[in-house]
Amino acid sequence: MLNVRERPDQEESRRIINVDVPRHRSDLYDRKFITAFLNTIDNPTNQGLLTTHLFYDLPSSGPLASSSLPYDPINILSGGKAWERHIDDSIHNNTYSLLDNDEDVIKYAIQHSLVQTLPRTIKFVSYGGGNAFDRKEFRIVNAVVEDSNRDVSDFCAVDILERFAIGGAVAANRLFGIRSQGVVGDILCNGKLAIDETTGSPVVMIFGGSFENTPSTSNAPDPRESTAIAWAKMNIQHGLGSTVIKTFDTDQDPARQEEAYSPSKNFEAFILSAFARAIQLGIIEDASYDVLENWRLKREFDLQLSSVKLIAECKKTHTLKINGTNRKFLGGETPDRRTITLSHKWGDLTHIDIAKRAGYEIKHIYSNDENPVHLLVAEATKRPDRDLLDMINQQSQPPLPH
Ligand SMILES: C[S@@+](CC[C@H](N)C(=O)[O-])C[C@H]1O[C@@H](n2cnc3c(N)ncnc32)[C@H](O)[C@@H]1O
Repeated sequence: MLNVRERPDQEESRRIINVDVPRHRSDLYDRKFITAFLNTIDNPTNQGLLTTHLFYDLPSSGPLASSSLPYDPINILSGGKAWERHIDDSIHNNTYSLLDNDEDVIKYAIQHSLVQTLPRTIKFVSYGGGNAFDRKEFRIVNAVVEDSNRDVSDFCAVDILERFAIGGAVAANRLFGIRSQGVVGDILCNGKLAIDETTGSPVVMIFGGSFENTPSTSNAPDPRESTAIAWAKMNIQHGLGSTVIKTFDTDQDPARQEEAYSPSKNFEAFILSAFARAIQLGIIEDASYDVLENWRLKREFDLQLSSVKLIAECKKTHTLKINGTNRKFLGGETPDRRTITLSHKWGDLTHIDIAKRAGYEIKHIYSNDENPVHLLVAEATKRPDRDLLDMINQQSQPPLPH
């Protein structure tokens, strides 16, 4: 957990950040990544297990730092950095419609009384804000700060990438002069995020589709179930009376979606960065493995899942030692493929159903003319449904001994 807070009693110095992740937990996300990577390699039908783990910066030491590859992997294949470069490029080239659509619906909601639907004293919590706070979360915080009937008690940025959590917390403190906190955590799986208890009523903001990146596996084929579990955990974490503001993309037109996810170099690097992380952690046992030489990015709209699939496709037949075993990957006419990411494009009804099962009452869905991205405001008014609570309990049971 990282705390960013002002100490008015200490005039000569200011504490900016506390880092107190227990030492034995610090490699938790590396271990989760390894499990997800091996699962993806072993079972091509398990799809979308790696998205969360792409938001990661390769350290400047380790096997890739001294690689003899024709490109600089630390710069090119560092997932977090590749994501930022993808966004910057898209803004520059005017090609990132999803981002604009998110911003537009947020502005539209603010113009149409979003703030009036919110509690009087608010503790803002951002889930997966990344590096887009200025264009998204802070517009809403700003509108609340300007409302004379409302107060902001504090701001908390939760992100799986430490740098984004710190950046959001520091920026909120600088911009609005409010107490802020950054928490490194997994918003889809965790359920017990290390967020400080404060007086404000929690308002969670989720933009850019992080809750729509849940996997589809042979054990759990319907990603809507995992998204409903994430909603239920959010209810348990923040309690009755807490609010959620969330955008989601409803466009189910395959051609338009495939166009929106066209594989720019930086986006390809972002998706393929999973292989670089596996090299860095020694799971791929060849420090000079050329990821870009061996894999390319493909995208497809899956009508059954109603999701964009982002797929690593093998470019040429080769053998690679992964976790002690030699594996053969086929190129050619029917190449080996692994679905790294799923991005679900569900309509209003699916989101309403998920929110209700998780104990939320929909207060409003903002949608503006042609914009396929909608903004939902919901309040936790009861406990999540029994089946979701049971699934959460099962997940938290320790595995049975063999
Ligand atoms: C698709 S980006 C969206 C970023 C930003 N909200 C936007 O709209 O541009 C997903 C963000 O969520 C974070 N993230 C992804 N999976 C996460 C997880 N399971 N738990 C916490 N943060 C996660 C990433 O680090 C990234 O900042």
